[in-house]
Amino acid sequence: MPRSKIAGIGMYVPANVVTNQDLTRYMDTSDEWIQERTGIQQRRYAHRTEETTTTMGVEAARIAIERAGITANDIDFIVFATLSPDYYFPGCGVLLQRAMKMKEIGALDVRNQCSGFVYALSVADQFIRSGMYKNILVVGSEKHSFGLDFSTRGRNVSVIFGDGAGAVVLQPTEDTNRGILSTHLHSDGEAAEILAMYNPGTHANHWADKNYASFADAEIGEMFMSHEMIDNAQNFPFMDGPSVFKKAVVKFPEVIVEALQKNGYQPSDLQMLIPHQANLRISQFVQQKLGLRDDQVYNNIQRYGNTTAASVPIALCEAWQEGRIKEGDLVCLAAFGSGFTWASALLRW
Ligand code: UT7
Repeated sequence: MPRSKIAGIGMYVPANVVTNQDLTRYMDTSDEWIQERTGIQQRRYAHRTEETTTTMGVEAARIAIERAGITANDIDFIVFATLSPDYYFPGCGVLLQRAMKMKEIGALDVRNQCSGFVYALSVADQFIRSGMYKNILVVGSEKHSFGLDFSTRGRNVSVIFGDGAGAVVLQPTEDTNRGILSTHLHSDGEAAEILAMYNPGTHANHWADKNYASFADAEIGEMFMSHEMIDNAQNFPFMDGPSVFKKAVVKFPEVIVEALQKNGYQPSDLQMLIPHQANLRISQFVQQKLGLRDDQVYNNIQRYGNTTAASVPIALCEAWQEGRIKEGDLVCLAAFGSGFTWASALLRW
C-alpha cells in the first residue's frame, strides 16, 4: 500500500492587520490582557466584501498546487475544512471547485472546527492509501471576522480569532522513508455546547434550560433564526474558555504521544511539532509537558491569532518556508477544539 506525502503546501493571509490596540476601539479590552492570556499581538481580517473563506482557500490552493508541480486540472478530490463557510450550504468545496475551474471531481466538506484540517488530512490519506485518488487538495480556511461579537459582551471569543487559509496537495509515494506515518482522530461530544455556535440550527428548544433562545411561542418558520436570537447575540459563537483550556492541555499531549508511540518514537525524536494555534499558553504547556525545546515547536499565533481549521496548514507552511522543516524530519501535527474533537498526524517530511 502506498503512503501519502505532502507534495505541495501553500498559505494565504489577508493584507489587513488588526492589532490588539485596534480592538480596543470596539470593546473593553487591552493589549496587555490579550498578550498575557493568549500571546496574540495581531491577527488578519479578510476584506469585508471581496474575500471569503473560499477565495482565501483558493489563494492557498493555487500555491500548493504550483509547488506540487501540477495544475488544478490534475486534482482528483477536494477536502475542505472550515467552520465559517461562505454559505450554510452548499459547502466551500464545490465553491473552490468552481472558482478553480476544476473537473467534476468529488468535493467533501469537513466540519471539525480547530481539528478540521488534521481530520481532512486523515480522510485524504485514506483515499491515497486505498489507491482511489492520486492528487488530493486539502484546504483549511476561515473568515472569522464576519461572525464575531465585537462588543464587550463577546470579547473573550472575538480577540482570539483571525482569518486565513492553508492548503496541501497529497500524493502517493512508494518511498518508505517519507510521508504520513499515521493519523489519530478522537471526539467526546459530552461538552459539545461549551464551545459552539448554536444558531442558526435545528436544535429548537433543546438548550432552553441554559437560557438560550426559548421557542415556546415561536411561529412556524421562526425557529431557525429569530429576532430574539439576534437581539440576544445568540448568533455568535459561545465559549467557556477556562473549561476548553483545561481539556486542551490534557488531550494535546495525549494525542501527540499516541502518534509517537504508534510509530515507536518519543518526543525527543521530533524535529517539529505543529500544534493548532489555539492559545500560546496551551502550546507552551504542551511543550513543557513533553519536554520539548523551543526549536521543536512552531508557533505563529502571535501574528495571526487562532485561525481554526487554517492554523495547522498556515503554521506548517511557514515553518517549512523558514527552513525549520527539512527533508527527512519527523513532524507532528496536532489539534484540539470544539466538539470536542482532537487529532494528530505524524509524518516524515
Ligand atoms: O481553538 C479553539 C479552542 N479554544 C481554546 O483553546 C481556548 C481555550 N481558552 C483560552 O484560551 C482562555 O480561556 C481564554 C483566553 C479564552 C480566556 O482566558 P482566561 O484566563 O481563561 O480568562 P477568563 O475567561 O477566565 O476571564 C477572566 C477575566 C474575566 O473577568 P472577571 O470575571 O475576572 O472580572 C473576563 O470577563 O477576563 C475577562 N475577559 C477579558 N478582559 C479583557 C475576558 N475576555 C477579555 C478580554 N479583555 N478580551
